[in-house]
Amino acid sequence: MSNKTVGNPLDLRAWIDEVKHMGELTEVSGADWNLELGAISELNVKKDLPNALLFDDIPGYPQGHRVMTCSTSSPSRLSSILRLPIESTNGGLTQSLRGKPKQWQGQADQYPPVVVDQGPIFENVQSGDDVDVFAFPSPLWHELDGGRYIGTGCMVVTKDLDSEWVNVGTYRVMVHDRNHVGLDMVPGKHGAIQYDKYMKAGKPFPVAIVVGCDPLGYLISGIEVPFGMCEYNYIGAILKQPVSVVKGQLTGLPVPSGAEIVLEGWAHPNDERIEGPFGEFHGYYPGKPATAPVVTIERVYYRNNPIIMGSPPAKPPNDYSYSKAVMRSALLMDALIAAGVPDVQAVWAHEIGGARMFNVVSIQQRYAGHARQAGHILSQCGVGAYMSRYSVVVDEDIDPSNLQEVMWAIATRTDPSLDIDIIQRGMGSKNDPMSIAYTSKAPFTSKAVIDACRPYDFIKEFPAVAEASKELQEAVRAKWKHIL
Ligand SMILES: Cc1cc2nc3c(=O)[nH]c(=O)nc-3n(C[C@H](O)[C@H](O)[C@H](O)COP(=O)(O)O)c2cc1C
Repeated sequence: MSNKTVGNPLDLRAWIDEVKHMGELTEVSGADWNLELGAISELNVKKDLPNALLFDDIPGYPQGHRVMTCSTSSPSRLSSILRLPIESTNGGLTQSLRGKPKQWQGQADQYPPVVVDQGPIFENVQSGDDVDVFAFPSPLWHELDGGRYIGTGCMVVTKDLDSEWVNVGTYRVMVHDRNHVGLDMVPGKHGAIQYDKYMKAGKPFPVAIVVGCDPLGYLISGIEVPFGMCEYNYIGAILKQPVSVVKGQLTGLPVPSGAEIVLEGWAHPNDERIEGPFGEFHGYYPGKPATAPVVTIERVYYRNNPIIMGSPPAKPPNDYSYSKAVMRSALLMDALIAAGVPDVQAVWAHEIGGARMFNVVSIQQRYAGHARQAGHILSQCGVGAYMSRYSVVVDEDIDPSNLQEVMWAIATRTDPSLDIDIIQRGMGSKNDPMSIAYTSKAPFTSKAVIDACRPYDFIKEFPAVAEASKELQEAVRAKWKHIL
């Protein structure tokens, strides 16, 4: 970590001001943390273009102790978070994202975080017997949840046992009591790998949980940044400026100097408790509650009038399904091009499949077999393989993000016995709601590749589409703006 220049503190409030200017913030007064705030957020995010919500005057809490939700749920807000030109459409945003993830990753090592001594995060400190996680209005998001979750749109900062690698991952955090929280890290996630090393060595695992900062933070800690790379560096590459961090007073773990709330402590060996249940990104609760590491919180730092960043999973569209759809679509597009598939027009990882289970690519068909090639690579490439179920290929006249058009192509351009390839024993997950019916103990599942392109060998004779031409549509739209 460098300590030469002053970096970006990941201040959520600066971003909220920007969203206000964009006219995309709704302030809500008086909603209860107990189910009401969660249900309002859930209904809001199902609108076509949901505003971000900022809840205040939460019963039982001082005015100013706030919760934000739906931060990433519009193209304009997501482009502002990613520091891209403001785009108001999915197409515009994915287009301006093309090639960016690869570029950010390539530049990440130029932007190590910069350590500063002070920051707004140290405005208030709880320690010893004063530690009380209930001082903040953690929501009970849904009726069937196993507890109140303070951490959804959060960043969990941890460090490798035998190297300097700091990882920042978004893992949910449930409140057990005033100084204990549960941390759910799926096996294989980088935080879980680091945790396992400490447990094997019989050592307490240091943890700092950042509950709220600029949403760029949890957006990036919630995607698969390569093993061994620190997410702060990746964020720095997006900002073109290092992240400014302060060190936790107990663990020395780096947290953004402008963060809203930070919980710091240790997960001790053999301290696991039942955690959850909590909904998953695909819209279901997992079968059974399971145990998860417990973090004993010994320090809490928070700004005056702190804001919890909330982003609960639920049946899609949910709080973060839009941002996942955009990010994964960009990554899939890059992967298809890197694999040598020519003339890829656009990709969309649909929210209904949690941006994993129903993905569509449009291509300009160039040769026999082109469509199958695109479909199989979409289904099996590194970013796409985990829990992919349906991978659909459509022609260039179909907008892959428009379900109506995609399903029309499937309904009218396929011969099911020829155009659906089934891949057996593909990569599934114990997290898959269908895993209950998997036929083997290991998480294998089948996958379908649907070639919904006009058959290449009959492409010239294929019936014309009964619709006004693009040119006529544009001319008529321009002239008849007032009714269209
Ligand atoms: C809002 C949100 C909540 C998430 N919750 C969890 C979770 O509880 N457990 C988990 O293992 N992954 C969760 N994820 C996915 C991980 O953040 C994601 O896989 C990320 O790549 C993990 O970081 P890592 O690659 O450093 O392990 C969540 C993602 C988001 C955006």
